[in-house]
Formats: sequence, C-alpha cells, structure tokens
Amino acid sequence: MTNSISADWWRQAAVYQIYPRSFSDANGDGIGDLGGIIAKVPYLTDLGVDAVWLSPFYPSALADGGYDVDDYRDVDPRIGTLAEFDDMVAALHGAGIKVVVDIVPNHSSDRHEWFRAALAAPKGSPERARYIFRDGKGEHGELPPTRWQSMFGGSAWERVTEPDGTPGQWYLHLFAKEQPDFNWDNNEVHEDFLATLRFWADRGVDGFRVDVAHGLKKNLDPAFDALRDILLSRDMFHDGEHPLWDRDDVHDVYRAWREVFDEYDPPRTAVAEAWVAAHRRGRYASREGLGQAFNFDLLESAFDAARFREVIAHNLDDADATGASSTWVLSNHDVVRHATRYGLVEDRTPAAGKQWLLDGGDPAAVDAEQGLRRARAATLLMLALPGSAYLYQGEELGLPEVGQIPDADRQDPAFFRNPGVDIGRDGCRVPLPWSREGSSFGFGADGAHLPQPAWFGEYSVEAEQSDPASTLSLYRDALALRRELQTEESLEWMPAAPDILHFARPGGWEVVANFGAEPAPLPAGDILIASGPVAGDLPGETTVWLRAPGR
Ligand code: NOJ
Ligand code: CA
Repeated sequence: MTNSISADWWRQAAVYQIYPRSFSDANGDGIGDLGGIIAKVPYLTDLGVDAVWLSPFYPSALADGGYDVDDYRDVDPRIGTLAEFDDMVAALHGAGIKVVVDIVPNHSSDRHEWFRAALAAPKGSPERARYIFRDGKGEHGELPPTRWQSMFGGSAWERVTEPDGTPGQWYLHLFAKEQPDFNWDNNEVHEDFLATLRFWADRGVDGFRVDVAHGLKKNLDPAFDALRDILLSRDMFHDGEHPLWDRDDVHDVYRAWREVFDEYDPPRTAVAEAWVAAHRRGRYASREGLGQAFNFDLLESAFDAARFREVIAHNLDDADATGASSTWVLSNHDVVRHATRYGLVEDRTPAAGKQWLLDGGDPAAVDAEQGLRRARAATLLMLALPGSAYLYQGEELGLPEVGQIPDADRQDPAFFRNPGVDIGRDGCRVPLPWSREGSSFGFGADGAHLPQPAWFGEYSVEAEQSDPASTLSLYRDALALRRELQTEESLEWMPAAPDILHFARPGGWEVVANFGAEPAPLPAGDILIASGPVAGDLPGETTVWLRAPGR
C-alpha cells in the first residue's frame, strides 16, 4: 500500500485534506499558499500521511471559498504559480506523498471566460448553451423559471442584463449566484473537462476529488418547476429519478473520465463527493467510474457504538459488493470539527454543530475535554478500519471549531445568503496554529485571513510536537502503526457489551472502543496504542489497539 509505484496506493491510503488558504502562509500576506505547503512537507512526512488532497487553489473571487473557479488550469496568484505547483508536486513526491486535487465540474465561477462570453452573447447562442439559461416566467420574464431554492438559500436562478442593457434571461446556479451550473449535455463542456483532467495528470497529479459528483446532469422538465425545496429533497425521488441529483446518465461522464485516468501509469484515481443514498454510492465508486466515493455516514453519526457499528458493517458490505475500498471521514471543510461536535451536550451530529454555531458558538455549551477525548477515540477507531481514511487539516492537533467569529470577518456565502439560518463554515477554516505565540501563531508573518482566537496557541504544532500524550503524537503514532498493520482484508466482529465495539483485523491486531462513560474490562493482549490513558480497565470514551495474546 505504501509502495510509491503501486497502482492501488489509494485503496488503503490515509489522505490529508489541505485547505490551501488556511494551511501555511510562506510569503506573509495572510493567505496560505503553495510555498507554505512546500515548507511543511517535513511536517506531513512526520505525520505519516500517504497523500494530500488540496481543496481548490485555482483563480477565484472566493464567493465560495474557491469552489467558484475562474480558470481550471491555473493557480490563484495569491496562492502561487504553476511553476510553484510543479515544485510542490516534486517536493511531495520526493517525500513519497501522493497529490490529489479538487475538481469542480458542476459549476464554474461567474468570472470564467465562458460565462463572460455567455453574458456578452445573445439568447440562443452557442456561448449560452454551455450553461443553463432560460427565459423567465411572468408577463415580462420577470419571475424565475422555477421556484427552486439554491443550496445556499435564495432562488437558484439569477437574472442577467442583456448586452443591450435590458433585463434578460435567467441562469441556473444550484449553489451561490457566482457559481453558474454548466450544461453537461453540451459536448464542449465535456471535452473541456477532459482537457483539464489531462492538464493536471500531465503535471504529475495522482488523483482527483470530484466536487458535487452527483450533480452535473439535469432534467429540466417543467413538471418539477413548482417544487421549491427540490435540492434538499433527496428522499423525494429514488433511483435516478431526481431531476437534479444523482441521475443515471452522470455515469456516462465518469466512464469517459476513467478512460482518461487509465491513459496514465499508474492510472489516476478519483473520489466522488456524492451525497446520494448509500445503495447508489457504488455506482460512483465502480472500477469503470471514479473508483471511490466518500462515505459521510460516520461524520453524520452521533458518538454512539450501535450507530458506528451499523455504519461500519454496512459500508464494508458495500465495498465488498462493488470492489471499491471504503472511505471514512470525521471532519472536512464543510462541517463543525469533530472535537467540538462530540463535546456538544446532547446531539453530536453536524446538524447540531451548525445549530450551536448559529446560537452564538458559546464555548460554555461545549465540554471541550470530553469532545477531544471522544474525537481521539473515534479517530483511532477510524484509522483501524479497512479502507482509506480522509483527515482534515488541524484535526491532528485536536483543534476545536472556532465558534465565535465577528460577522464582519466571515467569508462563507452560506452566512451571507441565509441571515439567521446558517452561520457558514468559516469556523473550521481558520488558519492553522503552528507556534504557541507570535504573528498568527506561526501561520504567516502578517496576520491571518480569518481571525484566530487567543487559545489557538495551546493547540499549535509547537505545543504538541514533543508531548507524547498530545493529539499530534496520537495521530503520528497511529498512522505509523497503521502503515505496518493495514491490509485489504475485512474485520471480524467480536462479542462485546452494548457500549463497546471490538473487532479483529488480520495478523492478531484487535481494536476495542468504549463509547460509554464507564470503564469496561479490557480484553487480553498487549496495548499497541491507546487514545487516552489506560490503567487496568478500558476507560470510558477510549479506543485501544491490541496485539492479541500469543501473536
Ligand atoms: C462541496 C464543497 O465541499 C463545498 O465546500 C462547496 O461549497 C460545494 N461543494 C459547492 O462547490
Ligand atoms: Ca501567502
């Protein structure tokens, strides 16, 4: 698995997500950059990850944190240059770390040259046919073509001003209005993305994370026009019948992508971000398609043994059925960090985390110690599962969500578009603390683009790196052990009390997680690693890896 030339490197990989603007700022302008990533290659090597996935670093007005792409084949000048990108790939590859980039095919930004051309061209032109333009309803076309609400709130349609200055057609945007949806029935769009994939694959990129992979293809039948909350109504339509999500013909796109991936040696990999019913995920993860799909089931689960077991068993069965490897995620740039979620007093799901943020993100409403204890236990369990583990920058520090950010500093469109309903995702995107003190806690020489709280230094790399009990040490030790122990083979559940999950992996490796508050008997064996202090019994909210007796 860790062999750098293996075509299967991704199947059991530990992949570290970098949110480039908030990782490390080498030139001191407050924005993380490629130079910062290069500077931290030794850190990533010590951490022991197999690959990094970079969230978008393309030129962008940041209407959605870079998921509004102006040019798919360039680097945002605030983040670096293509030459630096090549240097970064060389440095990461030199350290044995693979590089995955984010590709955003459902929509471009409204500054993309094609969208500008569409605005400058008349109704019915080939330029407009690359996006989804429609006439409005009402006597003068003054009403949006449908009632659909976008994912970030407000209408999913925006009216344009025609080149002659008159109010004109409307274009579809499932996300922010700065993110016009492409028309994936247009072959030019299709061909252009193949060119983009080759552009990055030729530069040595090993894989792609595919944003909103379940979008792209649409059925604009007027029968759906009146459904206001259609984008949220994933359950209303089943098995490819939803007009906007998870349509069967999206797989025609990915079959063509797979042909491109397979032109390379080793073949380029992909992971789909597809929010679809679990039984539809395998289509994205198929060998003929993207190869792997995110499973967000653990991330959406409360800290609960029965729920975790159900999710794990189900996903491993799916992986067996499709031949893809499972994926596991506890945090990413879209949700409240798991060290905070698990410290919320009642519910510990992302939805509850969002509500807590909306209610003011009061630190007193979170038991930070408990949250971190559970986060460490959940992570150590996740790292012991067959399949790839996706880690989000900062979770290796046990970093909590930043609950309180002044409104004036917020950046996420979800906040601006949904006053009082959504506070946005900035709290998990605050630049990382590298040192205990100093300018932006070592992130860069001159401040950070989102404000860091005074307590950030306690969670810094500097504060944790030499402390064997720190969360950073736990991640390093666990990732190192995982490299030795991880195999393709599935797990075997062992009998356990209701609050306990106990399973065996090949080679005498056993994993026991206590989700309850009370200590439980510890099965026999030598402790390889523990998520917290263990003396005698297995304390509550703690996971251990054991070597079974006699192995
Ligand atoms: C999913 C990304 O993870 C999220 O950050 C983004 O806002 C949407 N896709 C739209 O691109
Ligand atoms: Ca910078």
